[in-house]
Amino acid sequence: MAAKTHLIYFSPTKTTRKIVEQIAAGLNSHDVEHYDLTRMDGMVDLRLEDGLAIIGIPVYAGRVPEVFLKRIEGVSAAGIPAVLVALYGNREYEDALVELRDVAHSKGFAVIAAGAFIGEHSYSTAEQPIAANRPDEADLQKAKEFGARIGEKLQGAVAMATPQIPGNVPYRERLPLGGVAPETDRERCTLCGTCATVCPTFVIRVQKEVVTDAQNCVMCCACVKYCPENARALRHPIVNARREMLINNCSQRKEPACFL
Ligand SMILES: Cc1cc2nc3c(=O)[nH]c(=O)nc-3n(C[C@H](O)[C@H](O)[C@H](O)COP(=O)(O)O)c2cc1C
Repeated sequence: MAAKTHLIYFSPTKTTRKIVEQIAAGLNSHDVEHYDLTRMDGMVDLRLEDGLAIIGIPVYAGRVPEVFLKRIEGVSAAGIPAVLVALYGNREYEDALVELRDVAHSKGFAVIAAGAFIGEHSYSTAEQPIAANRPDEADLQKAKEFGARIGEKLQGAVAMATPQIPGNVPYRERLPLGGVAPETDRERCTLCGTCATVCPTFVIRVQKEVVTDAQNCVMCCACVKYCPENARALRHPIVNARREMLINNCSQRKEPACFL
């Protein structure tokens, strides 16, 4: 495949990014451009006239993250084909893919394929793992094969229509985020600032201590997962209860689903 491939994604803990990249590898794209919207302050101003786009998001409460909707506001396309990816933490993806389809169409993309993949849950910890270490080798292989099948579709072997995608319109109600955030263990923290540099909503300030503006935290847990001292943790009672629920009800391995 010679045309340019545009990778557009929001991925605080990088599982979405891994899948998007593997799909591009399966497509055999040599000309790949990244539009990483994770750490963008504001929105990107982008008009895509040719090539193929792969658009990836993590599922937040069965929906597309609101922060992604803001970041992608300034993106538009001249009818170029797009592949959609929803990455979820082994619970459900519910209406996230249909919502992403509608967003992509409203921006001028022609959706030709969509996939739901599984990644380690944001709330997963070493002691209480949820889909730990996913996507694993088998997931990455499936993403690559999906890319190869998209390549066939682009070459005309399969009709170029938008596939049937599971999910409901109207979408499920959006759960409000904000007010709950990871906390820092001062004994362990060395004030290195890694947490602040990975936070997608820029809510962490490191001065004499680490200060987190919980009101604008999206609980992605990038600061928890990338802290080299293991000094950040999300142990709010609401999240602890959620974690318990996920371990009790969502521990059975789910597999990726691709729609072409
Ligand atoms: C606020 C929030 C809501 C989430 N909601 C869901 C959900 O509804 N279903 C699910 O399976 N996983 C859910 N997750 C887990 C993420 O979808 C999952 O961890 C994903 O792999 C993160 O993607 P990233 O590594 O690209 O940041 C949620 C995570 C957060 C932070």
